[in-house]
Amino acid sequence: MSMSTGKLTKIVLLVLGSVGLYLLATHQHGQREAIRQAAVALTPACVEKLGRYGLARSEHYQSPYALQRTGASIAVQGYGEDDVRAIQRGCNIIDDTQGSLAKDPGRERWNAPRFIRGTHVSCDHCHQGIGDKQDVAGNPLKGSLSLGASWVMADMYDRFTGLLSPFEFRQMQCYINSSNGYKPNIADDVIRDVTAYSRFLSAALELKIGNHYDEQGIDEIPASATPKQGDDYVRGEAIYKKKCANCHGPQAFGLETNGRLVAPALAGPNAWNMQSRNYFYYVSTILPGFICRNMPLGEENTLSNQECRDIAFYISNLPRPAGDRQGPLVALQQQILMTVLPPLMRLTKSAGGSEVTAERVLERDQSRP
Ligand code: HEC
Ligand code: HEC
Repeated sequence: MSMSTGKLTKIVLLVLGSVGLYLLATHQHGQREAIRQAAVALTPACVEKLGRYGLARSEHYQSPYALQRTGASIAVQGYGEDDVRAIQRGCNIIDDTQGSLAKDPGRERWNAPRFIRGTHVSCDHCHQGIGDKQDVAGNPLKGSLSLGASWVMADMYDRFTGLLSPFEFRQMQCYINSSNGYKPNIADDVIRDVTAYSRFLSAALELKIGNHYDEQGIDEIPASATPKQGDDYVRGEAIYKKKCANCHGPQAFGLETNGRLVAPALAGPNAWNMQSRNYFYYVSTILPGFICRNMPLGEENTLSNQECRDIAFYISNLPRPAGDRQGPLVALQQQILMTVLPPLMRLTKSAGGSEVTAERVLERDQSRP
C-alpha cells in the first residue's frame, strides 16, 4: 500500500524528466532548422567568391570560370534554395571559422569555435583563398590545400593511417589536429555545409571526380629534395626571425593588433597540436611544403627547399599543445613550457635584435595588393 506513493513519485519524476529532455531536444532541433532556413549574411570574401562563380538558385548550373577560361562549360544539375544557403554557410565557415565577422557567431557558424580550443584558428589560414587559392590570372596553385580538389578525391586512402577516409572524416581530422580541437559529429551541419561548399567549388572549377589535381594537398618537401645538409634548428631560427617573425610574432605565438589578427599562431596555445600533419616530427614533409608554396605571404615560392625544412624544424621545436596521442604527462609538460618560455625568452632577448612593432606589420599589410 505505502510502497505505491514512493514508487509512484519516482515514476512520475522519471516520466517528467524524459518529457522535459524530449521537449528540449525538439526545441533545439527546431532552432537548427530555423538557422537552416534563415537568409545567410556572407563575409565580404564569400560575396566575391560565390558571386564570381555565379552561385544562384536554378535548375542548371554552368561555371562562369570554366566558360571564361576554356570558352565552353558543361551544364550540370543546379541548386535549390536549401543548397544555396548550405554552400553560403560553408563558405563563411572556412573564411571566418571563429565568426568574428558575424553578428551572432554561434548561430551563423554552427558554433564552430566550440570544436576548437584556440582563438586564432580559421580553416582559411591553411586552406587559403577560402580553400581555393589562385594567382592573379585565376590559375589554381600547386600544393595549396584546395578543398574543391580534395572533394573530388571523395574516398581517399590516407597513407599515414592506412584508413579509407571520406571527405567528411578528413574535415573531422582537421578539427582535432590542425585546429587543436574536438571532432564534430559526421552529420553535424558544420561538416555538411563545408562539404556542400567544397562540392560547389569542384563544380565551379569543373574538376572531375576521381582525378588528382596539383592544388590538392601539399607539395611535400622530403629531406631528399635538399642538398643533404640535414635540418638545422639554428639556421631555421635565423631565417624565421628574418622572414616570418614580423607577422607571426617573435615567438611564433601569432600577432594581434586592436583585436585584429595579423597572422595566426604557429606555436603556443593557439596553434596546431603535436598530432597535426603540420608537426614536423609527425610528418616532416608537409610543413616545409606549405611554407615553400604559401609563405612568406606576398613572397611565396622565394625560399629554397632547405630553408623551408630548416624553418619547419625550428617552428616544430617551439612549445605547442599536445595531441590526442601524447597523453596527460606530455600535455602538462607542454602547458608548462607554453607558460614559462615566453617570459623567459623575453628576458633573455638581446637588446640589439630588430624590434618588431605591430605598426610596421600593419603598414606592410596595407601596402599589399
Ligand atoms: C594549421 C593548418 C590547418 C588548419 C587551420 C586547417 N587545416 Fe585542414 N589540412 C591541413 C593539412 C596540413 C592537411 C593535410 C594535408 C595532407 O595530408 O596532405 C589538411 C587536410 C584537410 C582536408 C583533407 C584535404 C585532402 O585533400 O585530403 C580537409 C577536408 C580539411 N583539411 C578541412 C579543414 C577544415 C574544415 C578546417 C577548419 C576547421 C581546417 N581544415 C583547418 C592544414 C590545416
Ligand atoms: C606579411 C605577413 C606574413 C609573413 C611575412 C609570413 N606570414 Fe605566414 N601567414 C600570414 C597570414 C596572414 C597567414 C594566414 C593565412 C592567410 O591569411 O593567407 C599565415 C599563415 C601561415 C601558416 C599557416 C597557418 C597556421 O596557423 O599554421 C604557416 C605555417 C605560416 N604562415 C608560416 C610562415 C613562415 C614559416 C613564414 C616565414 C617564412 C611566414 N609565415 C611569413 C602572414 C605572414
